[in-house]
Amino acid sequence: MKCRVCSGPAVIDIRRHNANFCGEHFLKLCRDQTAKAIKQFSMLERDDRVLVAVSGGKDSLAVWDILTELGYHADGFYVGLGIAEYSASSEHHAVAFAAERGLTLHTEDLRRDHGFDIPNGSRAAKRAPCSACGLSKRHLFDEAARRGGYDAIVTGHNLDDEAAVLMGNVLHWHTDYLARQMPLLPARAGFPKKAKPLVRLTERETAAYCILREIDYLIDECPMAAGNKHLAYKAALNDIERNSPGAKHDFFFRFLAQAADRFRPGHEESDSRPDVAPCQRCGAPTNNDTCSFCALVARATEAVPIKLGHTRGRKKVSS
Ligand code: FES
Ligand code: ZN
Ligand code: ZN
Repeated sequence: MKCRVCSGPAVIDIRRHNANFCGEHFLKLCRDQTAKAIKQFSMLERDDRVLVAVSGGKDSLAVWDILTELGYHADGFYVGLGIAEYSASSEHHAVAFAAERGLTLHTEDLRRDHGFDIPNGSRAAKRAPCSACGLSKRHLFDEAARRGGYDAIVTGHNLDDEAAVLMGNVLHWHTDYLARQMPLLPARAGFPKKAKPLVRLTERETAAYCILREIDYLIDECPMAAGNKHLAYKAALNDIERNSPGAKHDFFFRFLAQAADRFRPGHEESDSRPDVAPCQRCGAPTNNDTCSFCALVARATEAVPIKLGHTRGRKKVSS
């Protein structure tokens, strides 16, 4: 197996590119594919201040590393979710990555800063854990970006993630979600723009990138995600990809090129709703008196008060 670029010994084969790569040229491929996605979807300006949503997993650490390598000013933001060992370990990986490279990592902790955690809070609020988690992270990332004057929030969503979400949205014809499934969501109504620069890389590739770059990432999946439909869609797409290399890429990128626009008009209408006003509790832009996150906090903390004593001593890394 030889590298397509230099004919040296290859370390990875990428069937959808019908090519093998040595370590050096594979890393270059990852950087080039990320730069290509940024350009293709006009995700970032050269002088944008970028806030990377960091979980300690391979994708978020890879995208932070690649953006830094590409010369972007990228800081990290980590949210502690209070999911037992999983959260402790994910925070450890995020903090260590930042410290080793001298990068800035801001952290927030749901228990310490908002009085609830995902396992107990979602139960009290009668929401699925992943839904309460997603809502909390979106809100806190937006707030952190606004507070810190960042131009963009970057997440580590890769091609497998986006193809699996697309599959779920198509299976159920969630046309409103299809309208929003873009690698770049432009800034609107007080929310910063959101970009997914890894959409041209699969999770096998982001894992290989981390290994070659000696990035120590959290391998465990979130225990709350077990049985999640998203994982089943990923497995189904991997089966298809095995027999038809490139199918995943075509499914997602041809959707963007040939079908996404058809769902867009409704999306634009809902985005331009004029009645966005500051949340009465936290000041975030919202269509209601109270934003969804403040409503979640109220329900999550009212029904099951959390004892804060054991979390107060936790380390906070920020600069
Ligand atoms: Fe959010 Fe698991 S990471 S529920
Ligand atoms: Zn090579
Ligand atoms: Zn609010």
